[in-house]
Amino acid sequence: MKALVLAGGKGTRLRPLTHTSAKQLVPVANKPVLNYGLEAIRDAGITSVGMVVGDTGSEIMRAVGDGSEFGLDVTYIPQEAPLGLAHCVLIAAEFLADEPFVMYLGDNLLVGGISSLVESFRHRPCDAQILLTRVADPRLFGVAELGPEGEIVGVQEKPLVPRSDLAIVGVYSFSPAIHQAVRAVRPSARGELEITDAIQWLIDTGRSVRSHVVTGYWKDTGRVQDLLECNRIVLELVEQDIRGTVDGLTEITGRVSVEPGAVVENSVLRGPIVVGADTKILSSYVGPFTSIGPECVIQDAEIEDSIVLGGSSVHGVSRVAHSLIGRNVEVSRAVGTPNIHQLVVGDHSKIQVRA
Ligand code: DAU
Repeated sequence: MKALVLAGGKGTRLRPLTHTSAKQLVPVANKPVLNYGLEAIRDAGITSVGMVVGDTGSEIMRAVGDGSEFGLDVTYIPQEAPLGLAHCVLIAAEFLADEPFVMYLGDNLLVGGISSLVESFRHRPCDAQILLTRVADPRLFGVAELGPEGEIVGVQEKPLVPRSDLAIVGVYSFSPAIHQAVRAVRPSARGELEITDAIQWLIDTGRSVRSHVVTGYWKDTGRVQDLLECNRIVLELVEQDIRGTVDGLTEITGRVSVEPGAVVENSVLRGPIVVGADTKILSSYVGPFTSIGPECVIQDAEIEDSIVLGGSSVHGVSRVAHSLIGRNVEVSRAVGTPNIHQLVVGDHSKIQVRA
């Protein structure tokens, strides 16, 4: 069995981060989203991976290399434009040959991995196995409609009036029958060859399509609260692992991961939290569900339930919560100028201050 990982796309940034990365490289608990997928594929016993890349291909290749770091053998498949998920299968036909495969959307994260799903597909082969999850706004997803026996009767891509709240998760298992399906479908109203239409084609032509409902799923829908929620879910699983230097004046409760080169002095750390490599936390409080990236400085500050990306500092500010702070950002107290907020804020940002 092979895997096809889709890491191309429109290069859309996860707003409001004026992000310089491919969306698949947005860090969750200090690790790119894509890494969770690659590790899940390896843990499911698959080593041969085709990776579809687009505009941001060089960045993805820098991050993943030949895949050996993940225990994988990665073949890159360049896509000239983001022409749709079914188009990705079309251009990967030679790589996939006549093997069954898992297609994994690189901006999706399934907490708990995919091993049991791959196992179930191996034991009970079918032409398509799709995963579904209940979501608040199904209009942002492919949506499945189930019949009385729980069988799939239809799938629709981002319907204006969804027939259920069961969204299609971005991890699919396919038999080689999908190649015929992706050749049969035509571009949708948004100009893409939709995998959802290919799955509908399989249903219409009497092929076997099965579904499982899963929990612990996340996809970048561009909302900050989604990213914070995903960070919380992943941090629930963090192990105590102190590889940096923590002084005797610091109090730690809960599970805390401090990466090598990080220094924590005279602070309170309440897990679950991760502290990135070469970060300094000085005379500060870092509360639950916080991910501090590498090379940050948190000094005389209080922060919790937040994500701080690499190279940023929070200095003399209490209390930062439910916040997403991008790369190389400085947050500090305005000095010598009472009662003002002094802001230099990038595009698509959102600031909420106590009046
Ligand atoms: O995440 C689940 C959803 O993914 C499903 O519910 C939908 O049915 C499915 O169509 C897809 O929806 P999106 O429109 O949100 O997909 P997106 O454009 O975000 O692409 C998903 C991943 O695939 C992302 O990592 C980019 C990559 N991609 C996408 C396209 C369209 C490619 O590599 N090439 C492409 O042509």
